[in-house]
Amino acid sequence: MELKINGISKQYGSIKALDNFSATLTDGVYGLLGPNGSGKTTLIRIITDSINSDSGEILFNGKDIKELGVSFRSFLGYMPQHHGIYPSFTATQYLSYIGSLKALGKNEIHQQVLYVLKAVNLLDVANRRIGALSGGMKQRLMLAQALIGNPKLIILDEPTAGLDPKERIRIRNLISGFALNRIVIIATHVVSDVEYIAKEIMLIQKGRLIYHDTPDRLCKSLENKVFEIETDEENLDKILSQYEVCNIHKSTDSIIVRILLNENQNEQRDMCGYDYKRIRASVEDVYLSVFDEERETEFVK
Ligand SMILES: Nc1ncnc2c1ncn2[C@@H]1O[C@H](COP(=O)(O)OP(=O)(O)OP(=O)(O)O)[C@@H](O)[C@H]1O
Ligand SMILES: [Mg+2]
Repeated sequence: MELKINGISKQYGSIKALDNFSATLTDGVYGLLGPNGSGKTTLIRIITDSINSDSGEILFNGKDIKELGVSFRSFLGYMPQHHGIYPSFTATQYLSYIGSLKALGKNEIHQQVLYVLKAVNLLDVANRRIGALSGGMKQRLMLAQALIGNPKLIILDEPTAGLDPKERIRIRNLISGFALNRIVIIATHVVSDVEYIAKEIMLIQKGRLIYHDTPDRLCKSLENKVFEIETDEENLDKILSQYEVCNIHKSTDSIIVRILLNENQNEQRDMCGYDYKRIRASVEDVYLSVFDEERETEFVK
């Protein structure tokens, strides 16, 4: 399987939502990571043929999706970021309806509905009206509908938004299990959703693809740049002003500050005077280093 995104651009008024985005995807999980407003949903809407791009093309196994039309949709499982699902349907009715839209036979629908309800842990509420489900349950139902019909291309826009930590992990593992012989794209700004399951990560900033690599190689780009400093209250302000800080961990007798050196800083010159150790970078560190100016994180002192 191959999905080729070829020079996609899309403008809304003066906003360039996508700027010449190109990537080639094969079987496996892809994390599309970027902050709010970076163009993730716009790209997904174009790939799913929900909106048109201004320029560029999307090829699925070498064929333009515009030409594939209905047959492309039969390969596609799509979980949109915002959805209006029918509140008076039960979960089972809704999933059966999606199965019939995908032209599955009656027996197949029955089997698949049971299978996906079980996969997203919703069997208990299979006959409850959607309007009476919690936010996280609705979210899981949306994931379930994307899995119906054995799609070869699964596109999930913020799939874990609103899920509790346990469900978040369950869903992450489920998605990872699904990726064999399929292309799965997960758009998110939550690094932990894709850090360990993505084959490759695409970092999108202001509509442009700025990095596309394996998590390992992305992390290697920050070799010798991430450190943990053990310090105390007294020195904390100085550290906060001196470095980009990724995390602060306070325990009863010390404070561990995870910091990131910028391109003008180096270990020999900028780390002396502290009790520190070198740390292997995580994808979260890469995300923070790339989207530095867009950070909204505040550290509570
Ligand atoms: N229908 C639209 N009309 C006008 N501007 C739009 C429209 N859809 C998106 N935009 C703009 O395009 C840019 C990209 O938006 P998009 O929804 O693709 O971002 P996103 O990465 O999915 O963000 P989020 O993380 O908040 O979901 C934003 O500046 C947004 O305001
Ligand atoms: Mg979005």
